[in-house]
Amino acid sequence: MISGRGSNLRALIASEVRSAIRVVISNRVEAAGLEAAHDAGIETLVIPHGDFARREAYDHALVEALRARGVALVCLAGFMRLLGPTFCAAFPSAILNIHPSLLPAFAGLHTHRRALEAGVKLHGCTVHVVTPELDGGPIVVQAAVPVLAGDTEASLAARVLAAEHRIYPQAVRWFLEDRVVFASDAVVQVRGSGVSSDSMIAPREPN
Ligand code: GRF
Repeated sequence: MISGRGSNLRALIASEVRSAIRVVISNRVEAAGLEAAHDAGIETLVIPHGDFARREAYDHALVEALRARGVALVCLAGFMRLLGPTFCAAFPSAILNIHPSLLPAFAGLHTHRRALEAGVKLHGCTVHVVTPELDGGPIVVQAAVPVLAGDTEASLAARVLAAEHRIYPQAVRWFLEDRVVFASDAVVQVRGSGVSSDSMIAPREPN
C-alpha cells in the first residue's frame, strides 16, 4: 500500500518477491507509484481515505479489498495513513512497514532532519511489523548508514533510501519463505538468514 513516489514499491517489483504481489493500493489517485505497478502488470486500486467519514470504515474497506484478493502479507511502502486496531487485527503479525530511521529512534515524520539536529553519527532504516502503535511494532531488520559532515536532509535521505531498497525486499522474502519467528511479542528472529551485526550495517542477501 502506497501514498506517493513508490520507490520502495519499485524495489519490491524489481526483486524476486515481485511474483507474490497481488495488488497495489493507494489512498491517493496521484501517487506516482501506481504507474510502476501498472507498468509491471500488477492490479492497482485507489481507495481514497476522503471517501470515508470514519477511520474504522476506511480500514474496513481496505481489509475487504485485500481479503478479496487473497492477500496474506500487507506491505506498507510510504502509505501515509495510520491503520487502526481493526486493520491490524485482520492481518495479525502480517503487516510490514519500512521506516526511515533506526527505530525506536525518530518514530514519526521528518526523521532525517531530526537525526541531523540530534547529531547522531549513525542513522538508517527499519522494516518492522505494524501494530496500532505508530512505528512501534517488532523490528525485522535494520540497516545503518553513516551521517557525514556536510550532510543535508536530502543527502542523508538519499543514503538511507538506498538502504531501504535493499532491506525491504529482503524482509518480505523472509516472510514469504516462512522464516520469521516471533521470539516474544517484541522480538523477531529470522531462521537461517545469516544475519550478523556486520550484515546489519551493510545488509547482504541471506545465504
Ligand atoms: C520512505 O522513506 C519510507 O521509509 C517511508 O516513506 C518513504 C516512502 O518512499 N515510510 P517511497 O514512496 O517508497 O519512494
